[in-house]
Amino acid sequence: MSAPGHDHPKIVVLDFGSQVSQLIARRLREVQVFSEMRPYTAWREVVDDPLVKGIVLSGGPSSVMESGSPQVGAEIWTAGKPILGICYGMQLMCHDLGGSMAPSANREYGHAEIDILDHDTIFAGQPERQPVWMSHGDRVDALPPGFTVLARTEHIPFAAAADPSRRFYGVQFHPEVAHTAHGLEMIESFARQVCNVEDRWTAAAFVEEAVTAIRDQVGDQRVLCAVSGGVDSTVMATLVDRAIGDRLHSVYVDNGVMREGESEQVERDLNSFLQHPIQRVDAGDVFLTRLAGVEEPEKKRKIIGNSFIEVFTEATRDQGPFGFLAQGTLYPDRIESVSIHGPSSVIKTHHNVGGLPAELGFELVEPLRDLFKDEVRRVGRELGIPEPLLARHPFPGPGLAVRILGEVNADRVSLLQRADHIFIEELRLNGQYDAIWQAGAILLPVRSVGVMGDQRTYENAVALRAVTSLDGMTADWARIPTEILARISNRIINEVPGVNRVVYDISSKPPSTIEWE
Ligand code: XMP
Repeated sequence: MSAPGHDHPKIVVLDFGSQVSQLIARRLREVQVFSEMRPYTAWREVVDDPLVKGIVLSGGPSSVMESGSPQVGAEIWTAGKPILGICYGMQLMCHDLGGSMAPSANREYGHAEIDILDHDTIFAGQPERQPVWMSHGDRVDALPPGFTVLARTEHIPFAAAADPSRRFYGVQFHPEVAHTAHGLEMIESFARQVCNVEDRWTAAAFVEEAVTAIRDQVGDQRVLCAVSGGVDSTVMATLVDRAIGDRLHSVYVDNGVMREGESEQVERDLNSFLQHPIQRVDAGDVFLTRLAGVEEPEKKRKIIGNSFIEVFTEATRDQGPFGFLAQGTLYPDRIESVSIHGPSSVIKTHHNVGGLPAELGFELVEPLRDLFKDEVRRVGRELGIPEPLLARHPFPGPGLAVRILGEVNADRVSLLQRADHIFIEELRLNGQYDAIWQAGAILLPVRSVGVMGDQRTYENAVALRAVTSLDGMTADWARIPTEILARISNRIINEVPGVNRVVYDISSKPPSTIEWE
Protein backbone atom coordinates (compact mmCIF):
# COMPACT_ATOMS: atom_id res chain seq x y z
CA MET A 1 0.00 0.00 0.00
CA SER A 2 1.13 3.52 -0.52
CA ALA A 3 0.30 5.31 2.71
CA PRO A 4 -1.23 8.75 2.29
CA GLY A 5 1.40 11.37 1.66
CA HIS A 6 4.03 9.02 0.35
CA ASP A 7 3.48 9.81 -3.32
CA HIS A 8 3.49 13.54 -2.79
CA PRO A 9 6.09 15.97 -3.95
CA LYS A 10 7.70 17.05 -0.71
CA ILE A 11 10.29 19.13 1.05
CA VAL A 12 12.51 17.21 3.43
CA VAL A 13 13.95 18.77 6.56
CA LEU A 14 17.33 17.24 7.36
CA ASP A 15 17.69 17.39 11.13
CA PHE A 16 20.99 18.46 12.67
CA GLY A 17 19.67 18.34 16.24
CA SER A 18 18.01 21.69 16.79
CA GLN A 19 15.20 21.75 19.35
CA VAL A 20 12.92 23.28 16.74
CA SER A 21 13.66 21.13 13.67
CA GLN A 22 10.22 19.55 13.83
CA LEU A 23 8.68 22.98 13.73
CA ILE A 24 10.12 23.56 10.24
CA ALA A 25 8.20 20.55 8.92
CA ARG A 26 5.06 21.69 10.72
CA ARG A 27 5.34 25.18 9.24
CA LEU A 28 5.65 23.73 5.75
CA ARG A 29 2.52 21.67 6.38
CA GLU A 30 0.76 24.85 7.56
CA VAL A 31 1.27 26.35 4.13
CA GLN A 32 -0.04 23.08 2.62
CA VAL A 33 3.32 21.75 1.48
CA PHE A 34 3.91 18.11 2.35
CA SER A 35 7.11 17.76 4.36
CA GLU A 36 8.99 15.16 6.32
CA MET A 37 11.83 15.31 8.79
CA ARG A 38 14.80 12.93 8.46
CA PRO A 39 18.07 12.68 10.39
CA TYR A 40 20.94 14.35 8.49
CA THR A 41 22.54 10.91 8.06
CA ALA A 42 19.74 10.07 5.57
CA TRP A 43 20.96 12.82 3.20
CA ARG A 44 21.84 10.45 0.35
CA GLU A 45 18.40 8.81 0.21
CA VAL A 46 16.85 12.25 0.27
CA VAL A 47 19.04 13.47 -2.58
CA ASP A 48 18.15 10.37 -4.65
CA ASP A 49 14.38 10.63 -4.10
CA PRO A 50 12.71 12.24 -7.13
CA LEU A 51 9.72 13.27 -5.00
CA VAL A 52 11.95 15.52 -2.91
CA LYS A 53 11.61 18.96 -4.49
CA GLY A 54 13.70 20.81 -1.95
CA ILE A 55 15.78 20.29 1.18
CA VAL A 56 15.92 22.33 4.37
CA LEU A 57 19.02 21.92 6.53
CA SER A 58 17.98 22.56 10.12
CA GLY A 59 19.87 24.28 12.88
CA GLY A 60 21.84 22.32 15.43
CA PRO A 61 23.99 22.71 18.52
CA SER A 62 27.33 21.90 16.84
CA SER A 63 29.95 24.10 15.22
CA VAL A 64 30.95 23.23 11.65
CA MET A 65 34.50 24.13 12.63
CA GLU A 66 34.72 21.35 15.22
CA SER A 67 35.94 17.97 14.11
CA GLY A 68 33.20 15.38 14.35
CA SER A 69 30.42 17.89 13.65
CA PRO A 70 27.52 16.53 11.55
CA GLN A 71 28.37 16.57 7.84
CA VAL A 72 26.75 15.68 4.53
CA GLY A 73 28.36 14.38 1.33
CA ALA A 74 29.37 16.72 -1.47
CA GLU A 75 26.71 15.21 -3.78
CA ILE A 76 24.04 17.13 -1.91
CA TRP A 77 25.44 20.34 -3.45
CA THR A 78 25.57 18.97 -7.00
CA ALA A 79 22.20 17.16 -7.11
CA GLY A 80 20.39 20.19 -8.51
CA LYS A 81 17.89 20.32 -5.62
CA PRO A 82 17.05 23.66 -4.00
CA ILE A 83 18.42 23.96 -0.45
CA LEU A 84 17.54 26.28 2.42
CA GLY A 85 20.08 26.25 5.24
CA ILE A 86 18.92 27.52 8.63
CA CYS A 87 21.53 28.53 11.24
CA TYR A 88 23.85 25.48 11.41
CA GLY A 89 22.44 24.53 7.99
CA MET A 90 23.55 27.85 6.53
CA GLN A 91 26.97 27.57 8.12
CA LEU A 92 27.41 24.06 6.74
CA MET A 93 26.40 25.24 3.28
CA CYS A 94 28.81 28.17 3.34
CA HIS A 95 31.60 26.09 4.84
CA ASP A 96 31.29 23.28 2.27
CA LEU A 97 30.99 25.64 -0.69
CA GLY A 98 34.10 27.67 0.02
CA GLY A 99 33.05 30.44 2.42
CA SER A 100 34.53 30.95 5.85
CA MET A 101 33.23 30.99 9.39
CA ALA A 102 34.08 32.92 12.54
CA PRO A 103 33.06 32.23 16.09
CA SER A 104 30.93 35.07 17.46
CA ALA A 105 32.30 36.76 20.55
CA ASN A 106 29.07 35.77 22.33
CA ARG A 107 26.41 33.26 21.49
CA GLU A 108 23.72 35.50 20.04
CA TYR A 109 20.32 34.48 21.34
CA GLY A 110 16.89 36.04 21.11
CA HIS A 111 15.33 38.93 19.23
CA ALA A 112 17.22 40.72 16.48
CA GLU A 113 16.31 43.00 13.60
CA ILE A 114 17.34 42.26 10.05
CA ASP A 115 17.71 44.78 7.25
CA ILE A 116 16.86 43.33 3.87
CA LEU A 117 19.41 44.34 1.25
CA ASP A 118 18.06 42.26 -1.62
CA HIS A 119 14.42 41.16 -1.84
CA ASP A 120 15.29 38.00 -3.75
CA THR A 121 12.44 35.42 -3.68
CA ILE A 122 12.32 34.45 0.00
CA PHE A 123 12.01 38.10 1.06
CA ALA A 124 9.79 39.27 -1.82
CA GLY A 125 7.18 41.80 -0.77
CA GLN A 126 8.41 41.96 2.82
CA PRO A 127 9.37 45.06 4.86
CA GLU A 128 12.97 46.40 4.72
CA ARG A 129 13.43 45.86 8.43
CA GLN A 130 11.88 43.02 10.41
CA PRO A 131 12.18 41.16 13.70
CA VAL A 132 13.75 37.69 13.69
CA TRP A 133 14.80 35.09 16.26
CA MET A 134 18.51 34.32 16.48
CA SER A 135 20.30 31.49 18.23
CA HIS A 136 23.84 30.86 17.13
CA GLY A 137 27.47 30.71 18.22
CA ASP A 138 29.28 30.89 14.86
CA ARG A 139 28.56 33.17 11.96
CA VAL A 140 29.49 33.29 8.30
CA ASP A 141 32.45 35.57 7.80
CA ALA A 142 32.94 35.30 4.03
CA LEU A 143 30.38 34.02 1.52
CA PRO A 144 31.22 31.21 -0.91
CA PRO A 145 31.73 32.10 -4.58
CA GLY A 146 28.42 32.77 -6.35
CA PHE A 147 26.60 33.91 -3.17
CA THR A 148 25.29 37.40 -2.49
CA VAL A 149 24.14 38.88 0.79
CA LEU A 150 20.36 39.28 1.20
CA ALA A 151 20.11 40.61 4.77
CA ARG A 152 22.27 41.76 7.68
CA THR A 153 21.85 42.72 11.32
CA GLU A 154 23.73 45.21 13.42
CA HIS A 155 26.06 42.42 14.54
CA ILE A 156 26.30 40.08 11.58
CA PRO A 157 27.00 41.04 7.99
CA PHE A 158 25.48 37.90 6.45
CA ALA A 159 22.17 37.27 8.22
CA ALA A 160 20.82 35.83 4.95
CA ALA A 161 22.56 34.98 1.67
CA ALA A 162 21.81 33.12 -1.53
CA ASP A 163 23.11 31.77 -4.78
CA PRO A 164 19.83 31.99 -6.75
CA SER A 165 21.36 30.34 -9.85
CA ARG A 166 21.87 27.11 -7.86
CA ARG A 167 18.72 27.78 -5.76
CA PHE A 168 20.73 27.78 -2.50
CA TYR A 169 19.48 29.98 0.33
CA GLY A 170 20.81 30.43 3.83
CA VAL A 171 19.48 32.28 6.87
CA GLN A 172 21.32 32.68 10.13
CA PHE A 173 18.09 33.24 12.08
CA HIS A 174 15.15 30.86 12.63
CA PRO A 175 12.22 31.49 10.24
CA GLU A 176 10.28 28.58 11.79
CA VAL A 177 9.72 30.20 15.20
CA ALA A 178 6.82 32.57 15.79
CA HIS A 179 9.09 35.45 16.85
CA THR A 180 10.36 35.75 13.27
CA ALA A 181 7.50 37.91 12.02
CA HIS A 182 7.69 36.96 8.33
CA GLY A 183 9.18 33.51 8.79
CA LEU A 184 6.17 31.64 7.46
CA GLU A 185 6.20 33.72 4.27
CA MET A 186 9.91 32.94 3.82
CA ILE A 187 9.28 29.23 4.21
CA GLU A 188 6.31 29.36 1.86
CA SER A 189 8.25 31.32 -0.79
CA PHE A 190 11.10 28.83 -0.60
CA ALA A 191 8.68 25.94 -1.16
CA ARG A 192 6.46 27.50 -3.81
CA GLN A 193 8.73 29.89 -5.69
CA VAL A 194 12.17 28.35 -5.27
CA CYS A 195 11.26 24.65 -5.20
CA ASN A 196 8.18 25.08 -7.42
CA VAL A 197 5.99 22.78 -5.32
CA GLU A 198 2.45 23.18 -6.64
CA ASP A 199 0.67 20.37 -4.78
CA ARG A 200 -1.64 21.42 -1.94
CA TRP A 201 -1.57 19.18 1.12
CA THR A 202 -5.08 19.77 2.51
CA ALA A 203 -7.30 17.93 4.94
CA ALA A 204 -9.88 17.26 2.20
CA ALA A 205 -7.28 15.75 -0.14
CA PHE A 206 -5.86 13.76 2.75
CA VAL A 207 -9.23 12.24 3.67
CA GLU A 208 -9.93 11.24 0.09
CA GLU A 209 -6.53 9.57 -0.31
CA ALA A 210 -6.60 7.96 3.11
CA VAL A 211 -10.01 6.40 2.46
CA THR A 212 -8.79 4.92 -0.83
CA ALA A 213 -5.55 3.71 0.75
CA ILE A 214 -7.40 2.02 3.63
CA ARG A 215 -9.76 0.27 1.20
CA ASP A 216 -6.80 -0.90 -0.91
CA GLN A 217 -4.93 -2.19 2.10
CA VAL A 218 -7.81 -3.93 3.83
CA GLY A 219 -9.62 -5.46 0.86
CA ASP A 220 -12.72 -7.26 2.12
CA GLN A 221 -11.31 -8.13 5.54
CA ARG A 222 -12.42 -6.85 8.93
CA VAL A 223 -10.45 -4.42 11.09
CA LEU A 224 -10.19 -4.16 14.85
CA CYS A 225 -9.32 -1.01 16.79
CA ALA A 226 -9.20 0.38 20.31
CA VAL A 227 -10.75 3.78 20.99
CA SER A 228 -10.22 5.92 24.07
CA GLY A 229 -12.31 9.00 23.38
CA GLY A 230 -9.09 10.96 22.71
CA VAL A 231 -8.65 12.97 19.54
CA ASP A 232 -6.24 10.59 17.78
CA SER A 233 -8.23 7.38 18.19
CA THR A 234 -11.51 9.18 17.44
CA VAL A 235 -10.21 10.61 14.16
CA MET A 236 -8.53 7.32 13.25
CA ALA A 237 -11.70 5.28 13.86
CA THR A 238 -13.87 7.77 11.99
CA LEU A 239 -11.56 7.66 9.00
CA VAL A 240 -11.46 3.86 8.90
CA ASP A 241 -15.23 3.80 9.46
CA ARG A 242 -15.62 6.15 6.49
CA ALA A 243 -13.57 3.73 4.39
CA ILE A 244 -15.03 0.35 5.38
CA GLY A 245 -18.14 1.05 7.48
CA ASP A 246 -19.20 -1.76 9.78
CA ARG A 247 -16.28 -3.97 8.86
CA LEU A 248 -14.49 -1.90 11.51
CA HIS A 249 -14.97 -3.12 15.07
CA SER A 250 -14.10 -0.49 17.72
CA VAL A 251 -13.52 -1.41 21.33
CA TYR A 252 -13.52 0.93 24.31
CA VAL A 253 -12.06 -0.41 27.56
CA ASP A 254 -13.14 1.28 30.79
CA ASN A 255 -10.12 0.74 33.05
CA GLY A 256 -11.77 2.16 36.17
CA VAL A 257 -9.48 5.20 36.23
CA MET A 258 -11.25 7.34 33.66
CA ARG A 259 -12.84 10.72 34.38
CA GLU A 260 -16.31 11.08 35.85
CA GLY A 261 -18.95 10.06 33.32
CA GLU A 262 -16.33 9.64 30.62
CA SER A 263 -17.16 6.11 29.49
CA GLU A 264 -20.84 6.92 28.98
CA GLN A 265 -19.90 10.10 27.14
CA VAL A 266 -17.42 8.38 24.82
CA GLU A 267 -19.90 5.63 24.02
CA ARG A 268 -22.67 8.14 23.26
CA ASP A 269 -20.43 10.41 21.17
CA LEU A 270 -18.82 7.72 19.07
CA ASN A 271 -22.07 5.90 18.49
CA SER A 272 -23.61 9.12 17.24
CA PHE A 273 -21.36 9.32 14.18
CA LEU A 274 -19.75 5.93 13.58
CA GLN A 275 -21.63 3.54 11.31
CA HIS A 276 -21.15 0.66 13.79
CA PRO A 277 -21.80 0.62 17.56
CA ILE A 278 -18.65 0.42 19.66
CA GLN A 279 -18.02 -2.48 22.01
CA ARG A 280 -17.69 -1.15 25.56
CA VAL A 281 -15.81 -3.32 28.02
CA ASP A 282 -16.23 -2.43 31.70
CA ALA A 283 -13.11 -3.81 33.30
CA GLY A 284 -12.61 -1.36 36.17
CA ASP A 285 -12.61 -4.17 38.74
CA VAL A 286 -9.78 -6.04 37.02
CA PHE A 287 -7.59 -2.94 36.90
CA LEU A 288 -8.35 -1.74 40.42
CA THR A 289 -7.75 -5.19 41.92
CA ARG A 290 -4.35 -5.35 40.28
CA LEU A 291 -3.49 -1.78 41.30
CA ALA A 292 -4.27 -2.43 44.98
CA GLY A 293 -1.32 -1.56 47.19
CA VAL A 294 0.83 -0.29 44.29
CA GLU A 295 2.40 3.14 44.78
CA GLU A 296 5.27 3.22 42.33
CA PRO A 297 4.30 5.18 39.14
CA GLU A 298 6.09 2.99 36.61
CA LYS A 299 4.63 -0.12 38.21
CA LYS A 300 1.14 1.40 37.88
CA ARG A 301 1.83 2.11 34.20
CA LYS A 302 3.00 -1.46 33.58
CA ILE A 303 0.00 -2.99 35.34
CA ILE A 304 -2.41 -0.82 33.36
CA GLY A 305 -0.60 -1.41 30.06
CA ASN A 306 -0.48 -5.20 30.50
CA SER A 307 -4.03 -5.46 31.81
CA PHE A 308 -5.27 -3.42 28.88
CA ILE A 309 -3.74 -5.85 26.39
CA GLU A 310 -5.15 -8.81 28.25
CA VAL A 311 -8.67 -7.38 28.63
CA PHE A 312 -8.74 -6.21 25.03
CA THR A 313 -7.59 -9.59 23.70
CA GLU A 314 -10.06 -11.48 25.84
CA ALA A 315 -13.00 -9.24 24.95
CA THR A 316 -12.39 -9.45 21.21
CA ARG A 317 -11.54 -13.15 21.02
CA ASP A 318 -14.98 -14.16 19.74
CA GLN A 319 -15.61 -11.03 17.66
CA GLY A 320 -13.25 -11.97 14.84
CA PRO A 321 -11.80 -12.93 12.55
CA PHE A 322 -9.89 -9.70 11.97
CA GLY A 323 -7.22 -9.18 9.35
CA PHE A 324 -5.93 -5.86 10.66
CA LEU A 325 -5.51 -3.69 13.72
CA ALA A 326 -6.00 0.06 13.21
CA GLN A 327 -4.02 2.47 15.38
CA GLY A 328 -3.86 6.25 15.78
CA THR A 329 -0.06 6.51 15.52
CA LEU A 330 1.01 10.05 14.63
CA TYR A 331 4.05 11.32 12.77
CA PRO A 332 5.87 12.62 15.89
CA ASP A 333 5.62 9.08 17.36
CA ARG A 334 7.82 7.78 14.58
CA ILE A 335 10.16 10.65 13.76
CA GLU A 336 13.72 9.61 14.24
CA SER A 337 15.39 12.85 15.26
CA VAL A 338 18.99 13.65 16.04
CA SER A 339 19.29 14.01 19.78
CA ILE A 340 22.00 16.16 21.27
CA HIS A 341 21.86 13.97 24.35
CA GLY A 342 22.20 10.68 22.50
CA PRO A 343 19.41 8.13 22.57
CA SER A 344 16.84 9.63 24.90
CA SER A 345 16.56 8.13 28.34
CA VAL A 346 13.20 6.90 29.51
CA ILE A 347 11.66 9.40 31.89
CA LYS A 348 8.19 7.91 31.75
CA THR A 349 7.13 5.00 29.59
CA HIS A 350 4.38 7.14 28.06
CA HIS A 351 3.48 5.76 24.77
CA ASN A 352 3.70 2.14 25.67
CA VAL A 353 0.53 2.45 27.68
CA GLY A 354 -2.76 2.03 25.90
CA GLY A 355 -0.93 0.75 22.84
CA LEU A 356 -1.18 -2.79 21.58
CA PRO A 357 1.94 -4.83 20.91
CA ALA A 358 3.09 -6.33 17.65
CA GLU A 359 2.77 -9.80 19.25
CA LEU A 360 -0.98 -9.67 18.70
CA GLY A 361 0.02 -10.63 15.19
CA PHE A 362 -2.05 -8.17 13.21
CA GLU A 363 -0.96 -6.15 10.26
CA LEU A 364 -1.36 -2.48 11.16
CA VAL A 365 -3.53 0.17 9.57
CA GLU A 366 -2.15 3.56 10.62
CA PRO A 367 -3.93 6.21 8.60
CA LEU A 368 -2.60 9.14 10.69
CA ARG A 369 1.03 8.06 10.60
CA ASP A 370 2.10 11.07 8.52
CA LEU A 371 0.22 13.72 10.48
CA PHE A 372 1.11 16.17 13.20
CA LYS A 373 -1.41 16.68 16.03
CA ASP A 374 -2.81 19.94 14.67
CA GLU A 375 -3.38 18.25 11.31
CA VAL A 376 -5.31 15.44 13.01
CA ARG A 377 -7.72 18.04 14.34
CA ARG A 378 -8.10 19.54 10.85
CA VAL A 379 -8.81 16.09 9.40
CA GLY A 380 -11.33 15.52 12.19
CA ARG A 381 -13.08 18.75 11.26
CA GLU A 382 -13.13 17.66 7.62
CA LEU A 383 -14.77 14.40 8.72
CA GLY A 384 -17.47 16.34 10.57
CA ILE A 385 -16.45 15.25 14.08
CA PRO A 386 -18.04 17.68 16.57
CA GLU A 387 -15.68 20.44 17.73
CA PRO A 388 -15.86 19.67 21.48
CA LEU A 389 -14.46 16.20 20.76
CA LEU A 390 -11.59 17.62 18.72
CA ALA A 391 -10.82 20.25 21.34
CA ARG A 392 -10.52 17.74 24.19
CA HIS A 393 -7.42 17.97 26.34
CA PRO A 394 -4.96 15.08 26.13
CA PHE A 395 -5.48 12.51 28.87
CA PRO A 396 -2.81 9.97 29.84
CA GLY A 397 -3.36 6.28 29.01
CA PRO A 398 -3.02 5.26 32.70
CA GLY A 399 -5.67 7.86 33.49
CA LEU A 400 -6.29 8.98 37.04
CA ALA A 401 -3.97 6.24 38.35
CA VAL A 402 -1.01 8.57 37.70
CA ARG A 403 -2.91 11.51 39.19
CA ILE A 404 -3.55 9.68 42.47
CA LEU A 405 -0.19 9.85 44.18
CA GLY A 406 0.30 6.77 46.29
CA GLU A 407 -2.21 3.96 46.37
CA VAL A 408 -5.11 3.82 43.91
CA ASN A 409 -8.43 2.49 45.20
CA ALA A 410 -12.09 2.96 44.34
CA ASP A 411 -12.65 5.62 47.03
CA ARG A 412 -9.69 7.69 45.98
CA VAL A 413 -10.68 7.37 42.32
CA SER A 414 -14.19 8.63 42.99
CA LEU A 415 -12.92 11.48 45.19
CA LEU A 416 -10.55 12.61 42.44
CA GLN A 417 -13.21 12.19 39.75
CA ARG A 418 -15.46 14.63 41.59
CA ALA A 419 -12.72 17.22 42.14
CA ASP A 420 -11.53 16.89 38.54
CA HIS A 421 -15.07 17.25 37.23
CA ILE A 422 -15.58 20.53 39.09
CA PHE A 423 -12.22 21.86 37.87
CA ILE A 424 -12.91 21.07 34.21
CA GLU A 425 -16.52 22.25 34.39
CA GLU A 426 -15.44 25.63 35.78
CA LEU A 427 -12.73 25.99 33.13
CA ARG A 428 -15.39 25.45 30.48
CA LEU A 429 -17.97 27.74 32.11
CA ASN A 430 -15.39 30.52 32.39
CA GLY A 431 -14.07 30.28 28.84
CA GLN A 432 -10.66 28.97 29.93
CA TYR A 433 -10.77 25.40 28.62
CA ASP A 434 -9.77 25.97 25.00
CA ALA A 435 -6.79 28.19 25.82
CA ILE A 436 -5.34 25.47 28.04
CA TRP A 437 -3.39 22.53 26.60
CA GLN A 438 -4.24 20.18 29.43
CA ALA A 439 -5.75 20.40 32.90
CA GLY A 440 -6.59 17.98 35.67
CA ALA A 441 -6.72 17.56 39.41
CA ILE A 442 -4.13 15.56 41.35
CA LEU A 443 -4.85 13.78 44.62
CA LEU A 444 -1.88 14.24 46.93
CA PRO A 445 -0.69 11.58 49.38
CA VAL A 446 -0.88 13.95 52.32
CA ARG A 447 -3.55 15.03 54.72
CA SER A 448 -3.67 18.42 56.30
CA VAL A 449 -5.53 20.12 59.08
CA GLY A 450 -8.50 22.37 58.37
CA VAL A 451 -11.53 23.71 60.09
CA MET A 452 -15.11 23.33 58.90
CA GLY A 453 -17.80 24.93 61.03
CA ASP A 454 -16.53 24.34 64.55
CA GLN A 455 -14.87 21.09 63.63
CA ARG A 456 -11.20 20.43 63.16
CA THR A 457 -10.71 18.37 59.98
CA TYR A 458 -7.79 16.23 58.89
CA GLU A 459 -8.36 15.54 55.20
CA ASN A 460 -6.91 15.24 51.72
CA ALA A 461 -5.21 17.93 49.68
CA VAL A 462 -5.88 18.28 45.94
CA ALA A 463 -3.54 20.04 43.51
CA LEU A 464 -4.82 21.67 40.34
CA ARG A 465 -2.60 21.37 37.27
CA ALA A 466 -3.27 23.40 34.12
CA VAL A 467 -0.67 24.11 31.46
CA THR A 468 -0.29 25.87 28.16
CA SER A 469 1.83 24.13 25.55
CA LEU A 470 2.29 23.56 21.82
CA ASP A 471 3.06 19.87 21.86
CA GLY A 472 3.39 18.70 25.46
CA MET A 473 7.20 18.63 25.19
CA THR A 474 7.54 21.91 27.06
CA ALA A 475 4.78 23.59 29.03
CA ASP A 476 4.08 26.57 31.20
CA TRP A 477 1.53 26.80 34.02
CA ALA A 478 -1.65 28.48 32.87
CA ARG A 479 -2.33 31.95 34.25
CA ILE A 480 -5.93 31.24 35.26
CA PRO A 481 -7.47 34.39 36.78
CA THR A 482 -7.39 34.20 40.56
CA GLU A 483 -11.13 34.75 40.95
CA ILE A 484 -11.75 31.61 38.87
CA LEU A 485 -9.23 29.66 40.95
CA ALA A 486 -10.97 30.91 44.08
CA ARG A 487 -14.30 29.64 42.80
CA ILE A 488 -12.87 26.24 41.87
CA SER A 489 -11.22 25.87 45.25
CA ASN A 490 -14.43 26.81 47.08
CA ARG A 491 -16.50 24.40 45.10
CA ILE A 492 -14.09 21.48 45.53
CA ILE A 493 -13.78 21.96 49.28
CA ASN A 494 -17.53 22.40 49.72
CA GLU A 495 -18.72 19.74 47.32
CA VAL A 496 -16.16 16.95 47.63
CA PRO A 497 -16.24 15.22 51.00
CA GLY A 498 -12.73 14.34 52.13
CA VAL A 499 -10.96 17.38 50.66
CA ASN A 500 -10.13 20.37 52.83
CA ARG A 501 -7.30 21.99 50.88
CA VAL A 502 -6.68 22.94 47.24
CA VAL A 503 -3.35 24.18 45.85
CA TYR A 504 -2.40 25.42 42.37
CA ASP A 505 0.72 24.03 40.68
CA ILE A 506 2.94 26.84 39.34
CA SER A 507 5.77 24.73 37.88
CA SER A 508 6.81 24.78 34.24
CA LYS A 509 8.10 21.85 32.16
CA PRO A 510 11.05 21.51 32.24
CA PRO A 511 12.16 21.10 34.97
CA SER A 512 8.82 19.68 36.17
CA THR A 513 6.58 17.47 34.00
CA ILE A 514 2.90 17.92 33.21
CA GLU A 515 1.73 14.89 35.20
CA TRP A 516 2.92 14.46 38.77
CA GLU A 517 3.83 10.80 38.25
P1 XMP B 1 4.67 14.64 31.09
O1 XMP B 1 4.06 14.31 32.42
O2 XMP B 1 5.83 13.76 30.73
O3 XMP B 1 3.51 14.36 30.02
O4 XMP B 1 5.03 16.09 30.97
C1 XMP B 1 3.54 14.75 28.68
C2 XMP B 1 2.23 14.32 28.04
O5 XMP B 1 2.12 12.90 28.04
C3 XMP B 1 0.97 12.49 28.76
N1 XMP B 1 1.33 11.28 29.51
C4 XMP B 1 0.97 10.05 29.13
N2 XMP B 1 0.27 9.62 28.06
N3 XMP B 1 0.55 7.38 28.80
C5 XMP B 1 0.03 8.28 27.93
O6 XMP B 1 -0.65 7.86 26.98
C6 XMP B 1 1.27 7.74 29.90
O7 XMP B 1 1.74 6.91 30.67
C7 XMP B 1 1.49 9.15 30.05
N4 XMP B 1 2.16 9.89 30.99
C8 XMP B 1 2.03 11.19 30.63
C9 XMP B 1 0.65 13.65 29.68
O8 XMP B 1 -0.71 13.62 30.07
C10 XMP B 1 1.01 14.83 28.79
O9 XMP B 1 -0.01 15.08 27.84
